Amino acid sequence: MTEIFEAIKESAKQIKSIIELGDSSKSDSSNSTGDTQLKLDIASDIVIEEIFGKISSVKQIVSEEKDEIFTINPEGKYLIAYDPLDGSSLVDVNLSVGTIYGIYENEFNGKNLKASAYIVYGPNVDLVFCDGTASKLYRLRNNEFVFLKDLKLQNTGLFVATGSTQQCWYPHHKKMVDDMFESGYKLRYSGGMVPDLHQILVKGGGLFSYPGASDKPKGKLRQLFEVFPFALVFECAGGGAIDGQERVLNVPTTHIHDTSPCFFGSLKELEFVKQAYNG
Ligand code: AHG
Repeated sequence: MTEIFEAIKESAKQIKSIIELGDSSKSDSSNSTGDTQLKLDIASDIVIEEIFGKISSVKQIVSEEKDEIFTINPEGKYLIAYDPLDGSSLVDVNLSVGTIYGIYENEFNGKNLKASAYIVYGPNVDLVFCDGTASKLYRLRNNEFVFLKDLKLQNTGLFVATGSTQQCWYPHHKKMVDDMFESGYKLRYSGGMVPDLHQILVKGGGLFSYPGASDKPKGKLRQLFEVFPFALVFECAGGGAIDGQERVLNVPTTHIHDTSPCFFGSLKELEFVKQAYNG
């Protein structure tokens, strides 16, 4: 796992340099779900593929930008699912973006997730690595990642971040969000899950959701690349992640690009979700 952590750090430094070049233009290609890729998406994907392609403990890698799983070393132990540049459409407006990693064993599903990591490229470059027991925050200083602290959620927080198109929300979701605002929660939503979730983790509590809705009953966010890695980080920080009722890491994966409704937060806010989604 040490060499994987080192590879994550190296990829973060290289992707930071690519973002700083400032090219937020579109490429001529689209990804597996039909989104037009930015040149940044493709360049970040190549960085990770090249770095992880040299690690013997890695059996397979799969990118959110691709349809296929690539085998690196058939004898390797770990399976890596990664989103090279989540929220890349926010680069041109100069909002924060991120990279997400899920580190699995045996096969790609939530129960086999052993570790996860994400990087936020903002005014600082922050890296959170979760080994399945603790979620540790590092910050890039003089080209090295320096440990800052373990992330720990309080029982409750101040913020609500909720995605999707409100017109398509189910009534019980709308009522839950309205009730939370009426009881004093503040809205925080940038449109990038990495900074939005990072804010809740660093500020110590709250709720992020990307619900199922009438246009997308299974939500938008992908299990292997986005939902499961953050679920582990939240659980190890003393919070949790559910699909509305159940622990989201128990939701089965049948295809690498499966999505799932998801709710990440501190324990009190997850109780609100369970009550709202009960039945
Ligand atoms: P993309 O990488 O295609 O820009 O998508 C970003 C993701 C995620 O980071 C964010 O939480 C969500 O899409 C926002 O979606 P909505 O605009 O539908 O709320």
